[in-house]
Amino acid sequence: MPVKTEEVIKVIGGNPISGTVQIGGAKNSVLKLMAASLMAPGVFHIDNVPRISDVEIMSEVIDTLGAKTSIQGHSMTIDTTGVDKYETPYKLVAKMRASISVLGPLIAKFGKAKVAMPGGCRIGSRKLDMHIAALEALGVEFESEHGYINANVPGKLHGADVTLDFPSVGATENLMMAAVKAEGTTTIENAAREPEICDLANFLNEMGANIKGMGSPVITVEGVNELHSTDHTVVGDRIEAGTFLVAGALCGGPLTAKGVDPNNLSRAIAVLKHMGAEIDVTEDSVTVSRHGDIIPCDIQTLPHPGFPTDLQAQFMVMAIIAKGRSVITENVFENRFMFASEVTRMGADVRVDGHHAIIEGVDQLSGAPVQSSDLRGGAALVLAGLIADGETVVSQIEHIDRGYEDYVGKLRKLGANVVRETIETSDDDI
Ligand code: UD1
Repeated sequence: MPVKTEEVIKVIGGNPISGTVQIGGAKNSVLKLMAASLMAPGVFHIDNVPRISDVEIMSEVIDTLGAKTSIQGHSMTIDTTGVDKYETPYKLVAKMRASISVLGPLIAKFGKAKVAMPGGCRIGSRKLDMHIAALEALGVEFESEHGYINANVPGKLHGADVTLDFPSVGATENLMMAAVKAEGTTTIENAAREPEICDLANFLNEMGANIKGMGSPVITVEGVNELHSTDHTVVGDRIEAGTFLVAGALCGGPLTAKGVDPNNLSRAIAVLKHMGAEIDVTEDSVTVSRHGDIIPCDIQTLPHPGFPTDLQAQFMVMAIIAKGRSVITENVFENRFMFASEVTRMGADVRVDGHHAIIEGVDQLSGAPVQSSDLRGGAALVLAGLIADGETVVSQIEHIDRGYEDYVGKLRKLGANVVRETIETSDDDI
């Protein structure tokens, strides 16, 4: 039988976890900053860049368009003087949905764009209708053929009043970026309020844009003619921080996540407290510890400042060993409960009913081979392994590498018994 190899994460549960973990820059911000840099020729310096595979893919995407990216440690330099193309190939965009965020910048720069329809996480349908409708309001015409979206601006981009049906993060960002160079004023109502939107708006303003209201439901963009390069430090990753805080709460802590603004984690912190954790915050850190039982929760994912969908799977691990019944309702993405069905292999009692997960707390999980099917679900399987009896082997860890820099190394420093290993798999296993 042919032998293939695969990298997996092996976890032996039961170790105490404590100490301080340095949180990196936000994946969901840096990818958009990189896209936005396409709009102005010059040399950008971006600090606090996480070393994750999504950043590598976005580097390839913008380099294909003529940029030159290089990275040392966590500092990235982007030279955009040679950006001369407006077409992103399918082989790159198919790997990562966030590639779609070059659409707004390319339209702003060239008045046209050809972008392959995105792939990425398999979490719900994730349509593009809001991106398209919002950009059409600015004067962009679209047609789609052969798996590509062709955008064209006859004449000039012009400002408009746009109300989004839902505060979509990606649609808000694409619209904001295109509007920066439109003639006149654009008002985005029901805009997404995520901290990464604020980081992008601040970055664009540093480039010479005139954006107000970011962080509120109404963003106003006054179009400008000229943009220039800038230096910027990426906001801390609240989702990476939340993931480690769950590790601390599960295993007792005390665990300090450093390099994140606690204000960006307020719902997650409130739920941790409700579930029995003790929390201390400073300006740029959150410390968690837990002494008593885990109390069941009733979580509803919602756009920011609601509870983030990107922490839903991680918090489900806490619910799984809580003393009683929890309910988690997923309101942002359809079909984002793949983790739930996998973790039942470890003895969890989770029943999914539409967009609700009903979780009956169990006393103990039991280590098992499990497979990650998306980024956050994969990270959550490792968390489940931390408290399970025996060995958990998490496969398909490339999902985790998309968004966590050195997840295993950081957990090991905190005391976890976890390693990355290359194992042999037969074709039957794949
Ligand atoms: C971003 C984040 C992702 C996070 C999500 C919600 C990045 C790279 N990813 O994704 O980690 O989970 O925000 O906080 O920043 N929708 C439509 N039509 C559209 C656009 C979106 O129906 O045109 C739907 C999606 O299918 C989804 C919901 O709106 O159900 C929210 O999507 P959106 O906020 O756009 O998420 P992303 O920007 O894709």
